[in-house]
Amino acid sequence: MAKAPREVVAEINSLNGEGQGVSRLGERELVVRNALPGESVRTRILKKRRGRLFGDGVEVLQEGANASRVAPACPYFPRCGGCSMHHVEHGAQLEHKQSLLAGELEALGVAVEAWAKPVGATRLGYRRKARLGVRLVGEDVLVGFRESFSNRVARLHACAVLTPEASALLAPLRQVLGQLSIAAKVPQIELAQGDGQPVLMLRHLEPLDHADLARLDEFAARHNVEVLLQSGGYDTLCKLDGGAPDLLSYALADYGLLMRFAPTQFTQVNQTMNEALIRTVIASLGGYGSAAMRERRVADLFCGIGNITLPLARAGATVAGLELAADAIDMARHNAALNGLGARTSFAVADLYADGCTLPEGVDTLVLDPPRSGAGPNLAAWLRTFRGDDVVYVSCNPATFASDAVVLKESGFMLQRVGVYDMFPHTAHVETVGLFVRRQ
Ligand SMILES: C[S@@+](CC[C@H](N)C(=O)[O-])C[C@H]1O[C@@H](n2cnc3c(N)ncnc32)[C@H](O)[C@@H]1O
Repeated sequence: MAKAPREVVAEINSLNGEGQGVSRLGERELVVRNALPGESVRTRILKKRRGRLFGDGVEVLQEGANASRVAPACPYFPRCGGCSMHHVEHGAQLEHKQSLLAGELEALGVAVEAWAKPVGATRLGYRRKARLGVRLVGEDVLVGFRESFSNRVARLHACAVLTPEASALLAPLRQVLGQLSIAAKVPQIELAQGDGQPVLMLRHLEPLDHADLARLDEFAARHNVEVLLQSGGYDTLCKLDGGAPDLLSYALADYGLLMRFAPTQFTQVNQTMNEALIRTVIASLGGYGSAAMRERRVADLFCGIGNITLPLARAGATVAGLELAADAIDMARHNAALNGLGARTSFAVADLYADGCTLPEGVDTLVLDPPRSGAGPNLAAWLRTFRGDDVVYVSCNPATFASDAVVLKESGFMLQRVGVYDMFPHTAHVETVGLFVRRQ
């Protein structure tokens, strides 16, 4: 008989960067999911790793010890690792995210002139992109995020943070995958959605037979979704009939823009927050149609498919977008032409981390929206040649935002205004927009 997991009472001291409670057990740190500072929590120890213990908070021993505790909106919390803060009231989630960012900035000595109020909106049903694990367990196929503190796939029938259309696919998807001849050879499904129905990208390690294809075709027709097959890298992605995948699209209604993208390309996960952060970028640079905006020559670094470039151009600026992925640059050019903004925009493929990569000539404004690793090794060199006064930095990682803020500070810029955006409610992900201005 398997040994019952050990149980302890943990006094929770703080909430970590993942939204999990932190306690101590003797000499060891104990990380407890579903636990909040100030609470005594009956904790089931789940695993030990690199000297730390990880546990499940199964019962709070004194109700009301932390006023921000709420009943989770998701029945799979806290086992499913897709989210970590369903037990935290939404305002307190935002405060926690701001405090994580403030902690990173303070630790590196970066002063903040003004904090913008944290921005949050849609709390459930927001998620338009996801990579879900697939696992055959006996007769059952599981489709879901990884469980927290484990490598197992969570047993989901629905998901509160996926869009309702995507969530509704989970249960029938499990069923149809279970009927495939290669059910054990499907490790992953990715989901991408624009303003229409989701697209599913099914990674398979062995070929599907005719009956499999017919089943998937019937599933796609019944649920009004596109199923794409992926036998290798993204370049192998094709429709069930072998044809090339269609483009998806989303509107940026504030700017009268339609943005097209391929299902594998980067797009912001939460459309309401995407619109909010674009609004902040535009407002930080003088506002839509303003004289200041019309005079700007902007470099939009890490521009992807032009998600920020084109609103800036519509607002009046002339914008050069730079980006590593050649297919994203093609799409950005396509989107510029589609929206009549070809004359105010230019795009180029560039590895912005590469040695000697310089800024485009004549730019007086920088917009940066880098990956988690930050702006990269060229930031200081760019700032030595840059003659403008404004740098808007959109970040998905407070640690690299803070270390890049140090480079900006040492180059003569101060952080005039910064705020967090709740791009992934109920997770500990922190999205930030900061405006740096040159010190006079
Ligand atoms: C957070 S996304 C932002 C994309 C876009 N601004 C948006 O809002 O959709 C970061 C982008 O940086 C690009 N990227 C990653 N590494 C890069 C590099 N070394 N040089 C240039 N772009 C890079 C990625 O391909 C991705 O499009």
